[in-house]
Amino acid sequence: MEQLPEPLPDNPLPLLNEWLEHAKTADNLPNPDAMALATNSESGTVSARIVLCKQLIIEPGYLVFYTNYESPKGIDMDSGSRVAGVFHWDTLNRQVRIEGVAIRSPDDESDAYFATRDKESQIGAWTSTQSQPLTSRQELRDKHVATARKLAELQEESSKLEIPRPPFWGGYRIWIDSVELWCRGEARLHDRGSWTRQLEASDKGFKVGGWSCTRLQP
Ligand SMILES: Cc1cc2nc3c(=O)[nH]c(=O)nc-3n(C[C@H](O)[C@H](O)[C@H](O)COP(=O)(O)O)c2cc1C
Repeated sequence: MEQLPEPLPDNPLPLLNEWLEHAKTADNLPNPDAMALATNSESGTVSARIVLCKQLIIEPGYLVFYTNYESPKGIDMDSGSRVAGVFHWDTLNRQVRIEGVAIRSPDDESDAYFATRDKESQIGAWTSTQSQPLTSRQELRDKHVATARKLAELQEESSKLEIPRPPFWGGYRIWIDSVELWCRGEARLHDRGSWTRQLEASDKGFKVGGWSCTRLQP
């Protein structure tokens, strides 16, 4: 059975990055970058859902994922909710928990990512008012056809080939201030390393403090 390094590394993010990269290449895992993300609303309700983690920037230390800014999670994060995320790779006997603060990615970064998406995903982003009610599936199909037509007309008028990013869609950076790496151990003696650090708001996002770490009982 695998163990965490002894002693634990000062910074958990290079190891988290190794785990993520390993999950992407090992065992043909479906959606190895899938992370359960929990937020809470200003009124105090808690919700969780899966998102795909598109990047981990080790230095200074944030994760990036993309979504609709006007979705319930977007509204939660924009109103200052702390967030918690969990990756679980069952066949690799590993779990990762992170916590932190999410702020929108710079527009140019979201534009660049949106431009790499296939056309159907781009039209889909324009079509969906994410998490709003629908009267029927047909309503969504009709909306999709109308959106695709409108975008094609706009492209023709502007003679630009690319579909622009919707202003209500883009990235979030989750600035991480807590990490737990878990590996399954024999006789349920799982190995857990826990790291925390301080984040201080700055004009570039956050100034990050040094990590402190400890092992935890299973
Ligand atoms: C495997 C998987 C990956 C997903 N990836 C994303 C994603 O990257 N971004 C996103 O907005 N929703 C993603 N979703 C959909 C969300 O789980 C969720 O249904 C949606 O974002 C609405 O969430 P909200 O109403 O809590 O804001 C994914 C769902 C699954 C099952």
